[in-house]
Amino acid sequence: MGFFNWAAPAFGHFADRWSHETIREVAGWLDSYLVADDATQNKILDVGGGTGALATRLHEVTNAQVTVLDPTPQMLRYISKDGPVTAVLGVAEEMPFKDDAFDVVIVTDAFHHFRDQPGAIQEFRRVIRPGGGVLVVELDPRGLVMRAIVLAEKLLGEPGAFFTPDQMCHFMSQHGISGTCTKMSGASYRFVGDVQAS
Ligand SMILES: C[S@@+](CC[C@H](N)C(=O)[O-])C[C@H]1O[C@@H](n2cnc3c(N)ncnc32)[C@H](O)[C@@H]1O
Repeated sequence: MGFFNWAAPAFGHFADRWSHETIREVAGWLDSYLVADDATQNKILDVGGGTGALATRLHEVTNAQVTVLDPTPQMLRYISKDGPVTAVLGVAEEMPFKDDAFDVVIVTDAFHHFRDQPGAIQEFRRVIRPGGGVLVVELDPRGLVMRAIVLAEKLLGEPGAFFTPDQMCHFMSQHGISGTCTKMSGASYRFVGDVQAS
């Protein structure tokens, strides 16, 4: 996580890469999990949500309550205390939330940074209500450019624990979340899955 301490200003600057159109698309992927009659009662948790750029825009589009959990204070400080998004310091592997507290957990460009991915999934299943869902946006590590990125992350002390889409679907289903992976632009893909009853 040391890397994000010093990289936070760059993320503060460039993290708001979410156009209105993209956010509408992201909200669409979450639609089937945000089912409260009163949209303000829906609850989204953005794990590794960093500066809160996505969380803020998702709140604007869905009206849901959005919480960002991140272990890097330098990233979280970009989230205004008076704004609609709640910033919480902590790691995916040990979340300071009650059981069944959220309708959906989202993770964008952060899953490969988790040092204990099975532990994180166990926590996802604990904090997501029965019938809730998980959205993970990740990068497929295959290809020359991506292999260079994986190497660079490892050299920076990050786990660089990337999955191909097939590996992601398999890993998730092994840990009780069944879903599908869909290719997006460039090396990105998304996993959307349902939490199976334990
Ligand atoms: C590349 S940034 C992505 C930020 C944001 N999700 C986005 O898409 O712009 C990765 C984030 O993961 C966070 N992170 C690293 N290890 C984590 C962990 N174990 N649990 C939760 N977040 C973690 C970092 O602090 C950082 O903010």
